[in-house]
Amino acid sequence: MPSGQSFDVVEGTTILVAAIRNGLHLPHDCTEAICGTDRVKILAGQKNLSEKNENEELTLGMMNAGPNDRLGCVARILGDVTVEIPS
Ligand code: FES
Repeated sequence: MPSGQSFDVVEGTTILVAAIRNGLHLPHDCTEAICGTDRVKILAGQKNLSEKNENEELTLGMMNAGPNDRLGCVARILGDVTVEIPS
């Protein structure tokens, strides 16, 4: 979202890689869950993502992120998810 596009990805692909491979622009920098540039909001399917690693927990905490926010570079897709990519 908000483009409404949907596509299949190989299980374990990160949100960031899935976005790039499918032509979606998701700004990013460190790719290590440190900079927070690729923060996205999970609209559905939160349980179908990998657990947050320590860096992601710390970075999202510093950003005062909500419970449905994830970092695209480390959040791996394990099932159906709906992701809002900031414009
Ligand atoms: S690219 Fe830096 S947190 Fe994901």
